[in-house]
Amino acid sequence: MQEKVLILGGGVIGLATAFELSRRNYDVTVLEKTSCGGQASGAAAGMLAPYSEIGEDPDDFFKLCLDSLRMYKTWQADVKAISKLDFEYTESGSLHAVYHDADVLALETRQSWQSEWGAETELISGERLWDMEPTLSKDIKAAMYYPEESHVFAPDYVKALEAACRRNGVKIHEHLEAVEVVDFKQSITVRAKEGKEFTGERLIVCSGAWSNELEDVFGIRIPVYPIRGQICAYDVPVDQVKHIVYTSQGYLVPKGNGTLVNGASEDIAGFKTDVTDKGIQRLTNWNKQVFPFLADMNPFHTWAGLRPATQDGFPLIGKLEGASQVVFATGHYRNGILLSPITAVAVADLLDEKEAYAPLASCKPERFM
Ligand code: FAD
Ligand code: GLY
Repeated sequence: MQEKVLILGGGVIGLATAFELSRRNYDVTVLEKTSCGGQASGAAAGMLAPYSEIGEDPDDFFKLCLDSLRMYKTWQADVKAISKLDFEYTESGSLHAVYHDADVLALETRQSWQSEWGAETELISGERLWDMEPTLSKDIKAAMYYPEESHVFAPDYVKALEAACRRNGVKIHEHLEAVEVVDFKQSITVRAKEGKEFTGERLIVCSGAWSNELEDVFGIRIPVYPIRGQICAYDVPVDQVKHIVYTSQGYLVPKGNGTLVNGASEDIAGFKTDVTDKGIQRLTNWNKQVFPFLADMNPFHTWAGLRPATQDGFPLIGKLEGASQVVFATGHYRNGILLSPITAVAVADLLDEKEAYAPLASCKPERFM
């Protein structure tokens, strides 16, 4: 008999987990309050950039991100093969740019510990930099080149994950509006609008920035909070920009369709997903310092999403102590697209009673008690 798994939330984490569990022959149902990919996952820039995003410390979070990056080539091919949908996955490499000599030293410090983790890195300066990225500002002093860093077109990746899930027999219920866990101790019962009930033997919590709403149900602290990311996009000639360019102020990601994505703010606005003039102007005032040609352009599209931030910066991934039928997979903050393969596989391994993936020791859901 297949075990019945209910997944709360149809963002990238819920769908990736559903995809992996369906491949392992679980009977999976995804319950989504609004629409799949309609929240943070559909808003993301799609960078797969552990070296750029985590510059400080090779902790368990960095290990999760790096292992996930190294799974991506196979993972994205599997999603494409099963969904029969294509989406952009580009191994563009990235340039982490700095403007001052003192910042070059900081890049070299990163380089020394990142190299111990097998990172390919190269410090680039002078003409070589303009050869690699011809329209980059001449004010940039140097950049660390990370050839492994890549990106996906996040909305299309999420659509393909959803299609792959459906093809594997995952049942997906969207627009459920209010979704409550009414029992997780005897068996799992979840109630949605108009009293519709769903039952199962396992529950996976993938409800992103809304996870904190479940504190009372599970009787633990779940310090996951929405941090709004405002972001915009320009229409540029295909291939004008070749690499992800990352700086301390933000990033630019050149998509294969000629869209140059420029992110992103980190602001607190509750659950509001609108953009503000101030939020977008911060990006448009800054980005010309990276690419001067942007000074004469306006973004053709602006949007925002809510990152699920946690109190200590680590996601919550693991079985709930004393109720191992409940598994958390939430709080991926700035790196949920990157972390989707490793999270899905780690959660499926937990359900299969395989030895837990070591960095999960830092992600225990009840660590905030
Ligand atoms: P979501 O996509 O928010 O999904 C959670 C879902 O759960 C939602 O659809 C919600 O409706 C649903 N839900 C909530 N409560 C319930 C409930 N009780 N019952 C049922 N459903 C429920 N990450 C990267 O790796 N690379 C990037 O380049 C990147 N760029 C980003 C840029 C921006 C502007 C933003 C905002 C984020 C970015 N991120 C990036 C972060 C990434 O988007 C998130 O970490 C990731 O999408 C989180 O996925 P999720 O599935 O947990 O959350
Ligand atoms: N990882 C990019 C962002 O969250 O904006």
